[in-house]
Amino acid sequence: MKAAIIGYGKMGREIEQILLERGHEVKLIIDLENRSELDAEHLKGIDVALEFTTPTTAYDNLHTCIENRIPVVSGTTGWTDRLDELKQYCLAQHSALFYASNYCLGVNLLFNLNRQLAAQIERLNAKYNVEIEEVHHIQKKDAPSGTAITLAEGILDNLSTKKQWINFAPIFDVSAIESKTAVTEEDLIIRSIREGMVPGIHTVTYESEDDQLILKHTIKNRRTLAMGAVIAAEFLCGKEGIFSMEDLMK
Ligand SMILES: NC(=O)c1ccc[n+]([C@@H]2O[C@H](COP(=O)([O-])OP(=O)(O)OC[C@H]3O[C@@H](n4cnc5c(N)ncnc54)[C@H](O)[C@@H]3O)[C@@H](O)[C@H]2O)c1
Repeated sequence: MKAAIIGYGKMGREIEQILLERGHEVKLIIDLENRSELDAEHLKGIDVALEFTTPTTAYDNLHTCIENRIPVVSGTTGWTDRLDELKQYCLAQHSALFYASNYCLGVNLLFNLNRQLAAQIERLNAKYNVEIEEVHHIQKKDAPSGTAITLAEGILDNLSTKKQWINFAPIFDVSAIESKTAVTEEDLIIRSIREGMVPGIHTVTYESEDDQLILKHTIKNRRTLAMGAVIAAEFLCGKEGIFSMEDLMK
């Protein structure tokens, strides 16, 4: 497989290593200083691209890949208000797009457990409140994390007591958070914490008057994320359409 890496940061470098280990060729690397090279000429002969850049640049990069009918694995988070638009464009172009808010297998198992748990609590009409907390390194540009949003969507789809998620991002100080009066019981709170070098911790906590039930996932290193993205790229190669981790896990 001849791959292009778009975004040569923490994830791009990890992905390069895994591509090479698995016998693939890295034919093109795009970062800020050569971003004008992301064009038809340089994409010629590429089987698949992997995009891990920033929330403000991802859409255009993915659009260029799709325009040139290069299957693309999308990893950047924080831009997905335009994901549906891009999916439509991809289908119209007969190209291929794979999007996951998190490429770690364990997190995707957590997504399934999270949905099942919310559905079960709904069926039992059990009196639990639920909150999500995500912790990431201080360089992370978006909040809440894409993973926390996917977890929130899994709860909102299944638990009728919650109507929408709201984010308490690190820009607020804790006392300001606690005194916010606009929050109602129908809001699903996502707390975002930024500290040190943490690759990613996600916790879903259900709490009643009598007990506490916690689902928690901790990523130990970025390799697991990069490995998932490379496996997604191998899966996507030669295909047409829109794919997710659910398709891969099937
Ligand atoms: N889906 C997942 O599993 C997953 C896992 C880890 C990170 N992420 C997301 O991936 C993104 C990148 O993460 P990272 O840790 O590698 O960040 P990073 O800051 O280390 O790297 C981003 C790189 O993109 C480059 N870049 C910026 N604008 C560009 C452009 N127009 N064209 C090409 N390159 C450009 C930057 O120079 C930088 O090298 C973030 O949005 C992060 O949240 C997703």
